[in-house]
Amino acid sequence: MFQSSQWEGALPDVPRSFTRRETLLSIRDLSVTYKTRSGELSAVDTLSLDLYKGEILGLVGESGCGKSTLGKAIMRMIDLPGEITKGQLLFKGTDLMTLSEKEMRELRGQSISMIFQDPMTSLNPVQSIEDHIIEAIRVHQPDVEPADASLRAAELIERLGIGRKRLEDYPHQLSGGMRQRVMIALALALKADIIIADEATTSLDVIVEAQFLDLLRELKDEFGLTILLITHNIGVVAQLADRVAVMYGGRLAEVTDVESLFYNPKHPYTQGLLASVPNIDLQSTHLHRMDGLPPNLISPPAGCRFHPRCPEAMEICTQQQPWLVRVDDIGEGDERVGGYDKHLAACWLHQEYEGTKVRRY
Ligand SMILES: Nc1ncnc2c1ncn2[C@@H]1O[C@H](COP(=O)(O)OP(=O)(O)O)[C@@H](O)[C@H]1O
Ligand SMILES: [Mg+2]
Repeated sequence: MFQSSQWEGALPDVPRSFTRRETLLSIRDLSVTYKTRSGELSAVDTLSLDLYKGEILGLVGESGCGKSTLGKAIMRMIDLPGEITKGQLLFKGTDLMTLSEKEMRELRGQSISMIFQDPMTSLNPVQSIEDHIIEAIRVHQPDVEPADASLRAAELIERLGIGRKRLEDYPHQLSGGMRQRVMIALALALKADIIIADEATTSLDVIVEAQFLDLLRELKDEFGLTILLITHNIGVVAQLADRVAVMYGGRLAEVTDVESLFYNPKHPYTQGLLASVPNIDLQSTHLHRMDGLPPNLISPPAGCRFHPRCPEAMEICTQQQPWLVRVDDIGEGDERVGGYDKHLAACWLHQEYEGTKVRRY
């Protein structure tokens, strides 16, 4: 059974704001499939999610649920055999799906930066750290004097806790933790609107990870960063995220602010995830496997994709897909709606108001 008391004191005592937020990215009804030899694999299915300016939105779920696919889809970086089959990606009002590949290339990195588990794949092995950062600064200010760019690069790298001597180094000479910091430095130099961090801390040891998370939190406030934090580590989410989206089998199970997620989870899958974490030492705690297996996305279960594993499954769950609907009792006119407080879940236990109060998301 899920017990909210299990999480007492687990979240850091950081004030989180509850004001209305500006939506920077609006994902609408997005579907991504991979054409495999055994058939079409539905990795992301009709998914809608908003990212607010200045927030850290955690995206969690078991391995294979579609988190990386969603992250890459936002950058339109899905490669064959994958394809975005429908949906919109509204970024500052423009649907990225309508942009040409050339326009997308400019936007990638500049407006939306993605940081992967292994930054070596994104860094140029024959370019020094200084050259990487100067190049990023020049994207915005092509006329900046080399000496000034060099100074800025040094300031930036020091702000990220790396000595300026390391500017001369090449990527392979840095530790994994330093390379992650360099990636953040590049995103800051580019003044990226959105940073998508996909399991960025997974390969770091616990202490380096904790330092990196502290740094991210500081930078978020200092630079007003907007981060989509993809992780299978619920401890990372508890420490850093303002809101959390829980994915299951290519769909969203629940979306809410981090307090509600830990103290008042509505979806049985979220409850199962939290209950399967053995203790509140969140720093080192990864999501433990729940009973049963994640769905086969080539022939996913009908209805709610979680129903074969759900302790509360009803007949309707085996037949009809539940929509993501409001499960809080904040009125539509409430100032907070459209901001952090909206609590959404896709579960037949919570669809009783359909037609009156509930709106589909
Ligand atoms: N290039 C690919 N070709 C075929 N299937 C893929 C490919 N990439 C991912 N998938 C499948 O898509 C689903 C979602 O994968 P992914 O987005 O990597 O999940 P996560 O990041 O949550 O672990 C999985 O079933 C995975 O096997
Ligand atoms: Mg992944």
